[in-house]
Formats: sequence, C-alpha cells, structure tokens
Amino acid sequence: MTKSTGSGGSGSRQLKVRVKTANRRKSGSTRWLQRQLNDPYVAKARELGYKSRAAFKLLELNEKYRLLKPGMRIVDLGCAPGGWLQVAAAATKSTDKTPRIVGIDYLETSPVPGCIILQKDFTDDDAPALLIEALEGYKADLVLSDMAAPTTGHKPTDHLRIVALVEMAADFATDVLAPGGTFVAKVFQGGTEHELLAMLKRQFTSTFHAKPPASRKDSAETYLVAKGFRN
Ligand SMILES: C[S@@+](CC[C@H](N)C(=O)[O-])C[C@H]1O[C@@H](n2cnc3c(N)ncnc32)[C@H](O)[C@@H]1O
Repeated sequence: MTKSTGSGGSGSRQLKVRVKTANRRKSGSTRWLQRQLNDPYVAKARELGYKSRAAFKLLELNEKYRLLKPGMRIVDLGCAPGGWLQVAAAATKSTDKTPRIVGIDYLETSPVPGCIILQKDFTDDDAPALLIEALEGYKADLVLSDMAAPTTGHKPTDHLRIVALVEMAADFATDVLAPGGTFVAKVFQGGTEHELLAMLKRQFTSTFHAKPPASRKDSAETYLVAKGFRN
C-alpha cells in the first residue's frame, strides 16, 4: 500500500490512499479496498460510530421524506451490519426495555440497543410470521428493505431474483403496515417492474424514486419510497 498526497478541500486535508497489488494490476478486492480507504462516508461512519456507511443513506432519505419519528415501530429487512438499525433506534428512541425495531438478515448482526434482530433468510417460509411475532401484535409504521440478492453474473437470473426479493418485501409490507405507513426499498434501475409499481401506487397515496447522495453514483441502486399506506 502506498500513500500519495491530495487535497481534501475546505480546510480538511485528506490523503488519497492508493493500493497496489504485487503485479501492479488491480484485482476486484484491491479496487474495493482503495475505494473504502478513500470514501468520506466510510471515514464519517467510523468517526460517528455507525456500523456501516449505509447509515447515511437512511439519514439522507429521512431528511428528504421525513420517514422517522419517535415512537414508531419499524421492520428492517436485510439489516446487517446494522447502520440502519442504529439510525432507526436513535430516531424512534427505541430502548431494550421497549424495543420497537425488528431487523432480519441471514448474516449475523451484532446487537444494537433497542432492536430485536433475527438471523434468518427473509425468503424462508416462516420468516414473515417470526417478524410479525417479534412485533408483538402491533402493526409497523415503516418497513425498510436494503436487501440485495447476491448476483450470479447471469443477467436475466439476477434481474428476476432482484425483482422477486423486492416483491416479497412489498407483499410483507402491505401485510404488516398500519394505515398511513411507509415502505422504503432498495431497487435497481430496470428492477422495479411496472406491475409492482402499479400495485404500490394503488396501495399508497404517493410513491417516489430517490438516489440519496451516499449511494454510489456508479451503483445502479436507487430507493423506492411509498408513503401513506391505504390498507
Ligand atoms: C446493503 S446490506 C444492508 C446494510 C444495512 N442497511 C446497514 O445499514 O447496515 C444488504 C443486506 O441484505 C441482506 N440480505 C440479502 N438478501 C437477504 C435475504 N433473503 N434475507 C435476509 N437478508 C438478506 C444481506 O445479507 C446484507 O446484509
């Protein structure tokens, strides 16, 4: 690894880090490491104690769409490593005594105060029932999904898997949301099917597509925000 200087601007001087592999060619993991080391959101997440840079995407979406309020009940689909859980728990003032946030991921998520975390695949048949059980009979005010299906490299397959996952999240949201509730999901350009959008437009009073500044420009991800669940 070599360091070369670069100016961070506005008084904050930042060093741009270059990572070289032995044969001078950059592998995918080297590129990933270089991007992480130079990403201001990664540095800010570390400084503020967030478990992921993704935390800023929810903070930015919240600033624009006013999603989070104290006392809300929230389900977070694909919650690991836990940045959105941290943001949601702080904004809703959820505590371990009365947790109002439920998260699920098939990867392990280290504990986040005020959150119930299930380690499970959301597509498992029993996952929706377990999430509903964790809500203790209450409806949710907000369902978040930052899930992304792992890619296979086969484009038509990847597309179908992405669409299927968002559809499952949307179906779940319409089962558990309280009237007036909100659904936020990561989708990929070309990944929001007309049928799904049409269904959401019928079930919610307003729908938006948003790309928060923290979402990398070279990523096809964008977020769908559906507000005002009609029940
Ligand atoms: C971009 S990460 C989420 C980051 C998270 N919002 C945060 O702030 O830390 C996407 C997550 O979705 C999870 N995921 C993808 N498919 C899933 C599934 N079928 N069931 C549960 N989790 C899933 C992945 O394991 C991954 O941890």
